[in-house]
Amino acid sequence: MDLLQEIRKTAYQIDPIYTKRWSPRSFLDKEVPNDVLHSLFEAARWAPSAANVQPWRFVFARKDEDREKFISFINESNVVWCKKAPVLVAIISKTDEERFGGANPTHSFDTGAAWGFLALEATRKGLITHGMGGFDREKAKEALGIPENYFVNAIVAVGYQGEKELLEESYHEREKPSDRKPIESFVFEGAFQEK
Ligand SMILES: Cc1cc2nc3c(=O)[nH]c(=O)nc-3n(C[C@H](O)[C@H](O)[C@H](O)COP(=O)(O)O)c2cc1C
Repeated sequence: MDLLQEIRKTAYQIDPIYTKRWSPRSFLDKEVPNDVLHSLFEAARWAPSAANVQPWRFVFARKDEDREKFISFINESNVVWCKKAPVLVAIISKTDEERFGGANPTHSFDTGAAWGFLALEATRKGLITHGMGGFDREKAKEALGIPENYFVNAIVAVGYQGEKELLEESYHEREKPSDRKPIESFVFEGAFQEK
């Protein structure tokens, strides 16, 4: 049994893609072809959203000068490993919507679904993704020219997985798939339960 199956046991039958996706930090020095990269955005495009407003926006960086802009607002604890990723993507959402007469209360929820689709498609294509919340949101908006009414939810590193030995030694132990809480701890029938 490989490490993935050993750590990620499911209680119910599901497509293996969900447990196959995890967030490694070791990236190969290998470019992501343009059509492969855009197929991830194609998957994100088909996510559901309230009133089909599709509040998600993506800014990606693969050229050195664009990647440098991203590196300038990502926390150092993430830069140490994500600087090797060939593509960095900002997952942005539009916080307001004319049709709703103001704020869109589900902008992040819908954009989260889109990122989920993107991550699963990446797994299908043999790529890895690693989401990051550890970055300066205000600096990100400034560096990428993002208007006031947009929110930068996360930055995602995209690329091909490398050996854990490519990482600094302090990261070796963590470079493996994680487990999850059991279903009973977060799924309740009829009424909420504090657990
Ligand atoms: C929105 C979001 C923010 C995250 N922020 C960071 C981060 O700043 N640094 C990091 O190393 N990992 C970060 N992660 C990765 C999570 O720690 C990881 O997804 C979680 O432990 C579950 O592991 P898995 O993705 O390998 O299944 C983030 C993930 C998400 C979805």
